[in-house]
Amino acid sequence: MPVSEGTALGTQLAAPAPETSFSSTVAARIDANIGFIYIDNPPVNALSHSVRSGLSAAVRTFSDAPGVQAIIVIGKGQTFPAGADIREFGRPIEEPALNAVNLSIEACRKPVIAAIHGTALGGGLEIALACHFRIALASARLGLPEVKLGVIPGAGGTQRLPRLIGIEQALRAIATSRILDAAEALQLGLVDAIVADDLHAHAIRFAQQVIAEGRPLRLVRDLQDKLAPASAGVFDEFESNLPARLRNRLAATRAIRSVRNAAALPFDEGLRKEREYVEECKASPQSAALQYVFFAERAAFKFDGYIAGALAGPEPLVGIAGAGALRTPLAAALLIGGCRVLLFDQNARALSDASSAIVERLERLSSKGRIASRQELQSFTAALEVTSEAASLRHCTAVIEVEPDTLSSKSAIVGALSAQVGEKTALITTTALLSVDEIAAASRRPANVVGMHFFIPASTMRQVEIVRADRSSNLAASIAVELSRRLEKIPVVSRDCDGFVGDRTLRAYLKEAIAILEEGVPAAHIDAALRDFGMAHGPFELCDFIGLDLAQRILDGRSGPGETGTKLIDLQRAGTPNGMPAHAGTSIPKILAAAIVERCLLAAAAEAKRLVAEGIVSRPSDVDIVWVNGLGFPEHCGGPLFWATQTTASVQR
Ligand code: COA
Repeated sequence: MPVSEGTALGTQLAAPAPETSFSSTVAARIDANIGFIYIDNPPVNALSHSVRSGLSAAVRTFSDAPGVQAIIVIGKGQTFPAGADIREFGRPIEEPALNAVNLSIEACRKPVIAAIHGTALGGGLEIALACHFRIALASARLGLPEVKLGVIPGAGGTQRLPRLIGIEQALRAIATSRILDAAEALQLGLVDAIVADDLHAHAIRFAQQVIAEGRPLRLVRDLQDKLAPASAGVFDEFESNLPARLRNRLAATRAIRSVRNAAALPFDEGLRKEREYVEECKASPQSAALQYVFFAERAAFKFDGYIAGALAGPEPLVGIAGAGALRTPLAAALLIGGCRVLLFDQNARALSDASSAIVERLERLSSKGRIASRQELQSFTAALEVTSEAASLRHCTAVIEVEPDTLSSKSAIVGALSAQVGEKTALITTTALLSVDEIAAASRRPANVVGMHFFIPASTMRQVEIVRADRSSNLAASIAVELSRRLEKIPVVSRDCDGFVGDRTLRAYLKEAIAILEEGVPAAHIDAALRDFGMAHGPFELCDFIGLDLAQRILDGRSGPGETGTKLIDLQRAGTPNGMPAHAGTSIPKILAAAIVERCLLAAAAEAKRLVAEGIVSRPSDVDIVWVNGLGFPEHCGGPLFWATQTTASVQR
């Protein structure tokens, strides 16, 4: 039952009482002298209107409740709030805004303690910053990643975080969306304590201690001692050293400006400016594109027929067979992703070498700090099993073959494996170029076969394509999707076609770049135009980067050597002595650059539309995220289709 504003809750919630609702997503109860406010808005406790209004009412009520001596704000379910509700971004803010809620928390005359677990991100962390004390579970992660979504923190984050952890650390956290783990947060002074378990009980103990000691309330807005930057030029220097992906990002520059204000302006004035920047960022095409990408990436995990939980068990067993270059990085990534890996090779010596290479890779990753602890390293290594008996693979949820990418070797191994794997085992073939339908035809269980295409370099590119053959089952495709999550990659599910999604649209783009080159525009100019637009590489640089052989194969497709691929090689050879176009320092007239960008990207967008029309992908956004995560397209422009739609709309306006 919602409690109307101003209700004398001190009486209503006296004694350990059942929870009382303040809104559909906020409940509260009093336990002894402590008022608990629970936020319950699954899946991530996003700060939608009902959370803000419930929280505001609960704080106000507990402030006035005579029996309550301290207040604990805690999230139900998996996390402390992970941010503003992004779905509300396009609409006018319904009062109370988070900023007002935070100001009322900060002004409360009783200690307010944030008890943090899961991911306290964005607006969630801003609530915690407005509280007087913060304790966190050791597994918690904290950050202000709004810049990733094209905005900046808008409820005091840019003003309070620098006051708590200092200017330099706050710049890094806010402008580059750096997430901190609990240990680092403690070290920097962002949290007052971390606890290993039972957050609820520890939060009570912490609150009782604060009450018993009569500890003065710590208002972050009043802290001054960490506000001086190490050097006067710190802001300009930070901005000029921003990583390439943040170049031309409005939100990153506004975040820096807002942190600068924290050091230069009174708190309330800094807060006012922060709001101005938020509105400016929210109205920008960049934030629309970044939010589009955020939801597109999440939508990509769901396809028609998707079976949630297909990758059964917390530590699924995944077989790897074949001797291609993907074997070691893939096995290591699966182990890090919490899978058990069963490495298969009939040759005992090859098996032992392959297993050593995987362990060595894990050790290298550990020495670079990519694996958190020695203990974790040991558990990953222990999860690696080997076998020379193909029959052992029948227990696997999935078996991935990593043979070299020729139809004869792929068909041979898939045919052989299909006689061994279990009825429900997904049989995954890793191919960049071949027809998954043809490979599946060699299998005794064609419904189990599905393709996976990793982008180069496979260990760092976030994109993976899941390719369904005509007869691939929903289960096999779902297992491949869930494996992608374990590999921390974004899957796009498509039907089989020459080039799948990425290479087919890339082909159209490269062909257009070659056509422009043939019209007499130097390769260096074409590269520079697309690089300045934000592509990680210009089209000809990309060909050099992936290797001319592969570029030629992408251009020619499954039909083999043809006119365009040969043309690329000839043109590249005719360039500078080593075939490379001159890359650096090229400047070209803006109007020419715009025309180059438009022609190349519209060619890609037109091909993308054909993919959707042919039913190869089910959503236009699937093609966009392949470009963003696999082909170096600037995230803040949303992908070629999104960009084309925006460009056409702005031309028509
Ligand atoms: N607002 C609205 N919905 C959100 C959200 C937010 N801030 N954050 C996550 N969600 C939704 C996702 O869209 C997804 O919905 P779906 O199941 O309908 O697809 C669901 O919550 C789960 O998110 P997902 O990212 O799939 O879960 P995860 O466990 O892998 O990651 C987070 C959880 C919180 C780390 C991740 O969602 C995230 O980074 N969110 C954005 C955080 C952020 O930027 N906060 C600042 C906002 S200004």
